[in-house]
Amino acid sequence: MTLGQPREHHETIGSTNERARELAEEGAAHGTLVTAGEQTAGRGRQGRGWVTPPNVAIAASLVLRSYDDLLPLRAGLAVADVAGPAARVKWPNDVWIEGRKVAGILAEARGQDWAVLGIGVNVALDPASLPPEVAEIAGTLGRDPEQVEPTLVELLSTLEQRLTEGRDATLAALRDRDALLGQHVRWQDGEGTGAGIDQTGALLVNLPDGSTTALSAGEVTLSN
Ligand code: BTN
Repeated sequence: MTLGQPREHHETIGSTNERARELAEEGAAHGTLVTAGEQTAGRGRQGRGWVTPPNVAIAASLVLRSYDDLLPLRAGLAVADVAGPAARVKWPNDVWIEGRKVAGILAEARGQDWAVLGIGVNVALDPASLPPEVAEIAGTLGRDPEQVEPTLVELLSTLEQRLTEGRDATLAALRDRDALLGQHVRWQDGEGTGAGIDQTGALLVNLPDGSTTALSAGEVTLSN
């Protein structure tokens, strides 16, 4: 499988995920890529927005026809691989470096027909240029704007490897980068301490009563 071909690039677009969804519905092939220099209505998880100022970040959405249940986790891991050894994955797939979020992933699927994998990476972005509420947590890889395209090329190749390797390899690498291990976590229905990632990709959490629960990415929204 080849990720990134064909490719549709927009200088400015509302959301690359929206465009990739249209292409998926029209029958676009596995690996079709939509990229943009700037997004004016970028979408994040849980209905939030995502800011992509011109030419300092990766805004990319892939149409996938073959994928498994670990897709969002595999994608976060691939981004972390490219972001470097200091990068950690905050389950299920936010990528953080030194307490700041440098990348986000929005995976949207229509059954087993297609998935659109949207990836935003702050390659050269200056967090101070973002709206205050985002600037508080936003981080950057701190690379030059000329590195946006080479970083995307590296990401596609790493992603290809992470999407096709065995589950155990992905889960082992993810555990090595688990930002929540031993950390306090809160979600809609409770709180506890991160205790690893199980074989299904669920987040294990030790609860105050001494028991352990497994949180599934589709069902739970962390609030920290
Ligand atoms: C998040 O962490 O909330 C997910 C952010 C995902 C942003 C990317 S940028 C490319 C693609 N197009 C979008 O509109 N969103 C995703």
